[in-house]
Order: sequence, then C-alpha cells, then structure tokens
Amino acid sequence: MNDPVPSEAASVFRRALADLLSSSSWVEEVASVPRELFLGEAICRAGRYGDRWEVLRREEMSAPEWLRLAYSDETWVTQVDGAMAADAEGGLSGAPTSSSTQPGLVVRMLEVSQIRKGDTVLEIGTGTGYSTALMCHRIGDRAVTSIEYDPVVAALARTAITAAGYAPTLAVGDGLSGFEENAEYDRLIATCSVRYIPVQWMWQVRDGGTITAPLRGWLGGTAFAHLTLDDAGNASGRFLGDRLDFMTARPHLPHPLSDSMLPRGEPRVSRIDPNVLHDPAAGFVAQLAAPSAQRLGADDEVILIDVATGSQAGTTRMDGGGWTVRQHGPLRLWDAVEGAIETWRNAGAPDQSAFGLTVTRSGDQRVWLGDPDGPCWYLPA
Ligand SMILES: C[S@@+](CC[C@H](N)C(=O)[O-])C[C@H]1O[C@@H](n2cnc3c(N)ncnc32)[C@H](O)[C@@H]1O
Repeated sequence: MNDPVPSEAASVFRRALADLLSSSSWVEEVASVPRELFLGEAICRAGRYGDRWEVLRREEMSAPEWLRLAYSDETWVTQVDGAMAADAEGGLSGAPTSSSTQPGLVVRMLEVSQIRKGDTVLEIGTGTGYSTALMCHRIGDRAVTSIEYDPVVAALARTAITAAGYAPTLAVGDGLSGFEENAEYDRLIATCSVRYIPVQWMWQVRDGGTITAPLRGWLGGTAFAHLTLDDAGNASGRFLGDRLDFMTARPHLPHPLSDSMLPRGEPRVSRIDPNVLHDPAAGFVAQLAAPSAQRLGADDEVILIDVATGSQAGTTRMDGGGWTVRQHGPLRLWDAVEGAIETWRNAGAPDQSAFGLTVTRSGDQRVWLGDPDGPCWYLPA
C-alpha cells in the first residue's frame, strides 16, 4: 500500500468539495469525512468505447493527483462485473457493480430522506461506505445500519469506515430483505435502484417513517421515490424530479438476452412512433405498461421481449412513413405501451414528478399519474 496521503493536503481538497456543495445541509459532514479513505487503491474511469473501463491506481499517481480525484464531485466505479478495480490487470469491461457515488448525489439523497439527529437509518448498498460514514457523523454510529450484498465490497467498506473512526452496524446480505435485527427504522435509504419496493422494507420502517429509493425497471426507466408510511403502514409519495440513475440491486437485474431475435406475428400499423421511447418520461411510462419486458434495438426498430412468457413485439419503419408492429405471445406488449403513452400524452406528457407511488403493507404497488386516484399501473412485486 502507498504511504498515507498527507492529511493537511487532504483537508484542503475536502474543504474545496464542501465549498462546492455548500448549499447542502450535509456540508459539515462532507467537510469532515475523508473520502480518500473510501476509494481503496484503484478506481475506474469510463473508457472511450462502450463498457470499457480505465483503471486509475493510487500508486501510479502523486498524492495531490489522487486527492484531486477523491474530492471531485464524481462517481468512481470500484467494481465492474464483480471484479475489483484494484485486482484488475489492465482495464476492465462490463457493467459497474459497485462505486463511490458522486458526493453531490449522495448528499441530495440524504437531504431528501430528511435524516435528523435521533433517527435510526437502514442503508441498502454500503458500497465503499462513504455515505454510511456521512450518516454516522451526523446521527452517531449506533443509529446507522448498512447492508451490502457483495462480501468483498463489504469487507473493504468495513476497513474504510473503521479507519475513518466510525462503528455502525454493517451487515452482508441481500438488502432487499432489509435487516430485521435492528428494525424498526425511522428512515430507509437505498443507494442501489430497485424495480419495486420490497415488502420487507414496509415492515421494518415505522409508521411515519420514510423510504427513499431510486427505481429502475427493465426498460431502463427511472424514478426517484420518497415515500412516507401512514398510520396503517402503507407508504405513499410523489416522485421527485431528479434524474437519478443508480446501479440496480443485484437480485432485480434483468435476464441476459440474446440479441438475435426477429419479431413474429401479423404486422399492423403502430399508433405511436417508437422513437418516443428516447424521452426518459416516455420510457418510464412504457415500462409501467410492460413491466416484465426487456428491450433490444432502438429508434425505429424496437423489440420488446417478456422472457417468462416468450411474448414479443417489434416495430419497423414503413417505406411511405409511419411504423408497423408485430406482436407474438400471450402478452400484447405494444398494445399496452401504446395505451399508456396515449394516457401520458393526454395528461400533457409530464416528467416523472407528475407520478407517485402507493405501496400497501401487503406489497401492492400502484404508480399513479396526477394524484392517487388518477390513471395507474402496478409495479411487478
Ligand atoms: C452505488 S453503490 C453504493 C454507493 C455507496 N453508498 C457509497 O456511498 O459509496 C451500490 C451498492 O449496492 C450494492 N447492492 C446491490 N444490490 C444489493 C442488495 N440487494 N443488497 C445490498 N446491497 C446491494 C452494490 O454491491 C453496490 O456496492
């Protein structure tokens, strides 16, 4: 391991990051927690081509260069497809599976979740442990529980959190089941995305408590949920307007797809232009309508596939203008998408902040448009 970086230099960089985030109520925590401890020995930077990652090693740069990276308002990927950056030989390729999230985004999530002194918190996705440490600084070690799926990531986080002087409860396991031992919690905050709110979370957060979680479905549509539990233990809230894109909780990842599927079925004229799915809100709406679908292709030639039933829908541009769609299998995926897009357009094509989510204690999850009595779709719990 390299010599520890000079702490005076680190505090100058830390102060600069805190100044950058000065509008946040978490600025004091940012100014106190040494982020460089949480990045380990190597981090990844997106390469020029698709899913390639360049590995940046601490031992290969000067202390100020490393500190500049550690205290930039950037997400640093630390693990790709299960391989730690520090263990990589050369670069890495694949999807990020763990990271230190951009500090500005971490403090935004913490702010939204309204964590105050006296609260107890369950964090899903310890990652490097940086956000865990920020919470410990504010509300004390004993009030913070954090759970991480990946044992290697969890062990490194424990080392970093301990080195920073904190001692929260750290668990290794599937955070989608929560962490019953320390329940009930005042706040639950997820730093990985979920397809739906796991029912166990509903039972481990107290009435009046909150669940703050980024949602991401299999068509890539995202929304940022901040739900408050009522006296009956049901949770509800309007989505926030922030565009957050956190890596998906591992058990909620989609199935691997082969990319050589040809749409089958009788063609008919599509009521919508498939290019509408480029709009993030439209993509989110399509996903609400076809929550089990995965997508291949893009632009004029979108293919939706439901792996469980083998249902498919595929669009093609017609020579004279417009698009056709072919559908096959028991789910009429494109019919559902067309209907939902039309409903959304009739409401003025709003972004995700016009939608909200109500989750019952038994786990029913209804996304509504406008208000809780508006048009609705169910998440695939
Ligand atoms: C974006 S990172 C977390 C960032 C972290 N809070 C930080 O400040 O460094 C997301 C983490 O969630 C973890 N994760 C994914 N699925 C999980 C699950 N089902 N339960 C707990 N952790 C999970 C990943 O392994 C990854 O480390």
